[in-house]
Amino acid sequence: MKKFTTGIVIFLLFTIVGFAQHDHAFYATMDANDAVSFNALYPDEMRIIASNDKQAAVLLTEEVAHKIHDNVKTHGPGYIFRASEEKAIQALEAVQRRSVQLEYTITEDVFVNECLNLVNPQNIEDDILDLQSYGTRYHTKSQAAAAVYDQQAKWDAMIAASGRTDVSTRIYNHVNTPMPSVIITFDGANTPDEFVIIGGHIDSTTFGDKNNAPGADDNASGIASLNEMVRVILEKDFVPNRSIEVMAYAAEEIGLVGSAEIAEAYANNGVNVAAYVQFDMTGYNGSSSDIYLTTDWYNSSELNDYLAALMDHYNSTGTHSFTYGYTECGYGCSDHASWADNGYDATFPFEARMGEDNPNIHTPGDVYTFFNTPEHSVKFTKLGLQFLIEAAKPQILSVDDFSENAIRIFVKDKALNFRLNNTISNVANVSIYNIAGQNILSEKVNTTNGALQLQQFAQGFYIAKFNLENGHTITKKFILN
Ligand code: BES
Ligand code: ZN
Repeated sequence: MKKFTTGIVIFLLFTIVGFAQHDHAFYATMDANDAVSFNALYPDEMRIIASNDKQAAVLLTEEVAHKIHDNVKTHGPGYIFRASEEKAIQALEAVQRRSVQLEYTITEDVFVNECLNLVNPQNIEDDILDLQSYGTRYHTKSQAAAAVYDQQAKWDAMIAASGRTDVSTRIYNHVNTPMPSVIITFDGANTPDEFVIIGGHIDSTTFGDKNNAPGADDNASGIASLNEMVRVILEKDFVPNRSIEVMAYAAEEIGLVGSAEIAEAYANNGVNVAAYVQFDMTGYNGSSSDIYLTTDWYNSSELNDYLAALMDHYNSTGTHSFTYGYTECGYGCSDHASWADNGYDATFPFEARMGEDNPNIHTPGDVYTFFNTPEHSVKFTKLGLQFLIEAAKPQILSVDDFSENAIRIFVKDKALNFRLNNTISNVANVSIYNIAGQNILSEKVNTTNGALQLQQFAQGFYIAKFNLENGHTITKKFILN
């Protein structure tokens, strides 16, 4: 994120007093030029509190907030809800970078292609139709919360079918909306405290009747793309090195409310988020290229370069080929801005060049039949898989970082016997993995030699990982007979 060199100009503070008579005034940030033009139009319903060269912190009445939204038919210039005056002003300040540096490598060719082959467009179509059938997912409506709980149930069913115990879901309740968000977590096997995150909003909106907001492209399509990605990595039993989270947010449409609370909590807790990618609108194919990387000033150009390199590598020829280009939102147009706001590397690959995107969003006409094919969303699922697998990397299993001969093993009567060849250290812990890479047993041992009872496991190949007290690990393959 770019650092602001200019200071914040504070002015007009004194006029806020008169605002108290408006029942529903709230703080927000928005593009600085837009703030000035709207303030000229609605001087009594809006105050600019502070601004820098890009953004302004404002106090808005709910009426003018709606006018701002309606003013430009489909989207933007939007405003980002801020819970207090202090937070609105803080949002203008340079943010401290928090992301751990990802190594932007592409190493998992075989596994990624196996995953891409499993992407099923029918699942995406089914999910979009399912989400639009709620009629509305406007954040204050009961259908919105129902859609979130049903989304959790879908993920829980996939997890149950996989038998995995290292994957879980949780509901995230918010302060500034009655609608919850939902998160699925794949615990990282090697560095669980480093996170790779993909998300999209599950709420919807319209200009008029909030009971008629099908939100098929905005953003059932993004959620459907994410769901198919989750289904594939569970089917392939992918155990990541880093932790992976996929998030379906509440209340994006009223100013990024759900994602802002989550990203802020992660930052306050010092969570290491290596990279964040947003899926918001994946269904409508309106431009000459397929996927458009947004290059807004708050996005990470390194992360954009990585997504571009992944598409060059995986999608330039063959069955999974598609094209990409670059575009700009012009302001904090979706939930990735919440992560960028909190110092994390974030970006947003979008369905079209800005202005050529789905013209029906935020209207009752945002239905599946308008684009009527899951094929555009499929490309986002593929990009998402490529990104998640390459950024989180598969669990590291086979690398010996210590002498092969340092430990001897043999199997007898379904017990794995081990003995360290010298007494430089103790074995602290032994972990057993099946050949799918799943950790099936972990035991603290604290000795130079011993035996692990493996009677409960079937015949076959296994891997034992010995963690020594001196920090070394030794990995050995063995046959249980
Ligand atoms: N999906 C839109 C964002 C969008 C629309 C991006 C069209 C690019 C093209 C999102 O749900 C939305 O409506 N965002 C608001 C801003 C937000 C801060 C309330 C918007 O764009 O007005
Ligand atoms: Zn959206």
